[in-house]
Parts: sequence; structure tokens; C-alpha cells
Amino acid sequence: METGFNTRAVQAGEFRDATVGNVTTPIFETSTFYNPNPNPSAYTDHTRGKPFMYTRWGNPTLEALERKYASLDLVEESLSFSTGMGAITSTVLSVLRKGDKLVSVKELYGETFIFFSRFLPSIGIGVDFVKLDQLNSGEVKLDNYAAIYTESVVNPTLGVCDLELLGKMSREAEIPLIVDATFASPYNQNPSRFGASFTLHSGTKYIGGHSDILLGLAGFDKKEMESVWAKRKMLGTSPDPIQAYLGLRGIKTLGLRMKAHNENGLEVAKFLAENKRVSKVLYPGLEVSEYNGIAKRNLRGFGGMVSFELSGGLKSAKEMAKKLKIFSYAPSLGGVESLFTLPAETSHLSLSQEERKEAGISEGLVRMSVGVEDKEDLIEDLKIALE
Ligand SMILES: Cc1ncc(COP(=O)(O)O)c(C=O)c1O
Repeated sequence: METGFNTRAVQAGEFRDATVGNVTTPIFETSTFYNPNPNPSAYTDHTRGKPFMYTRWGNPTLEALERKYASLDLVEESLSFSTGMGAITSTVLSVLRKGDKLVSVKELYGETFIFFSRFLPSIGIGVDFVKLDQLNSGEVKLDNYAAIYTESVVNPTLGVCDLELLGKMSREAEIPLIVDATFASPYNQNPSRFGASFTLHSGTKYIGGHSDILLGLAGFDKKEMESVWAKRKMLGTSPDPIQAYLGLRGIKTLGLRMKAHNENGLEVAKFLAENKRVSKVLYPGLEVSEYNGIAKRNLRGFGGMVSFELSGGLKSAKEMAKKLKIFSYAPSLGGVESLFTLPAETSHLSLSQEERKEAGISEGLVRMSVGVEDKEDLIEDLKIALE
């Protein structure tokens, strides 16, 4: 039976043991398993088709999360990671070899940019950065590259990558397309449907949904499992079972939460766009956004991330932050609670000022993660702070 997103979010992947009769997946809080397992009908771990042996290799609680996530992001296989950066580093290192060259957008989450610009070259992997708009124009030649990397909605300037076009280009060039879809979440977008070979998420954000865990997820075809799994095992980027359990619990309500994030994000963006103290609003759901057309073709909803600048710049943004009662002045995103941060001070602090400028991040740019509180209250909070 073909089922809907919320049904899969609740039902898929759960580790139900008929001999026990449990409904929800337990936390398999064990580092090790009998090996060899003497039971001829022992459960086999999806990562390698053999009984579980050691939790860094695989664990039933991790597997339940991986199966549930895979059913939501329409991928054949998936692995969970200790953090989003764990998913990004392990996956990218499983794809690229010394001497390879990666092409990536410039507008990236700060730590991903550091990984690409500082670390990959140090191990003999070249990286060329191009502007998102250049990539969307279809002009970038992909010959000579071993892979292409993008964020489907970029952090924090909220440009939208034309995955439809990029999927086609990467197929023609026969190179893997790696997509970090953290801002969209599997509810708003499934990059695999556009031809992405690898979909990555910081599960810390919308998937976990409650700002209480760190987690990463990667989705891909079956044939990629061995290589990504080997990197997770070697780098030690597997999550622990409690964290995987909390991710599994959080993802069950992803559809319900995203619906509220999409609604609130749009309302907040519209409110800001009409306020005279706001000089610029970045939100792909606004009709006036240059990314609105691409967003409509690539996304099912525009999400809860809204960035903006005040005409008073950095000083006004800091003053505004002090007056907010509901929005917390804190980094990260994707939780049920609304957050307000300055990327130059948090997510993109490790970049040089020049690099931030290149990525379109002014010192006074504000990024908000609009939560699922009542939208009238959120708008009132912003209105008072702006006044
Ligand atoms: C788009 C994006 N990708 C990846 C990450 C890294 O995730 P984590 O903090 O879980 O390592 C972040 C963190 O903010 C992010 O915003």
C-alpha cells in the first residue's frame, strides 16, 4: 500500500519484535553484540547484511531511524551520523579521492565552507567555488569535476538552487550531485527526485525538531552503502543510540511541524517586507524574491527560515535582539522554538570578512528560524522589538 508522508513518518522503520510486542523502537543501549551470533535467524543489520556486532558499525535503534528517514526522503538506503558535519565529511570523503576536483556553491553553511576551502585541499582534493546564481544559470562546465555539491536552500541568504537543472547537468556529466537539504527537510523537498546521488541533512535541525540533539543523515542508492558506511566506521561519526532514538521520536512529527514552519515563515516574511525599518527580506516564498520561480518548481513549501537586514544595520539588529521576548537570541535552527541570530557572529564566524562578503553575508544580516508558536504572537514580538 502506498502511504502518505505522515503515515510513513509514524510507522516506517520501527523495530518491532513480535516476541516482545513493543510498539515503539527501544533504545538499544549496547556497544557490543554476540559475535558470532549463535542464532541462525538473527536479525541482519542493513548496513552489511550480517548480524549486529558493534554499535559504531550499526545498531537497531540507528537502523530504525535510517529506515524511517529513507522512506521520507525517497532514497534506497540511509545512514545516520553524530552530527550534520559528520554526515557531510563522511559522505564527501567517501566520494572523492586524492587528485579529484569538487565544484561547490560559495554560499554554504560556514563549517562546510571551512571543510572544503581549508581541509580538502590539504589532502590533495581541489575545490572550485562558484556563485549559486552562476550554477543556476547552467553555464558552469562540469567536465573535469568528480562531483558537484550544493545546499538546496543556502544558509543564510536563502537562495534556492535549481535542482531540476542541476540534476540534469550532473546526469549528463555523469558525476554525483551531493545536496545538503537541511533547510528544506524531506517534507518540502526530496533531492533524489531531481537526480541527487546523495542527500544530506543536519538532523540537529528540522528532523530532530526540538533543539535537543545533534544528528546527521545521509540518503543514497544501495550501491553507495559500503563506501559511506566504511567512512562512518573509520571516522567514528555514528550517533549514539539515545541520540538516534530522540531523532526517531522527533522525525515522527516532521510533517506536522513543517506545515506550521511553512505557514509561520511566510507570514513573518510578509510582515517584515512591509515594515519600514526593514531594508531587505530574504525569503524564497515572497513573490518579489528573485528565487520565487525556482522555489515554486523545486520546493513543496518555503520553510521557516527568514533572513533580513535593518536600515540601521548591525547596531539596530543588536538592539532588536535585546527587545525580543519570544524569539531567543541563539544560533541553530529548525526547532519548535523561534530563534534569532547574526550569522557573522555564529554560523559563519570562522570565515574571513572577505569570504562572508563573497557569500552575501553582511555584518548586520539577521537569520531567524521561525518556530511553531502562534504566528500572531511571533509577529507581535517582532513588531514591538522593531518599534
Ligand atoms: C545547512 C547546514 N548544514 C549542515 C550543518 C551542520 O550541522 P551540525 O551542526 O548538526 O553538524 C548546519 C548547521 O547549522 C547547517 O545549517
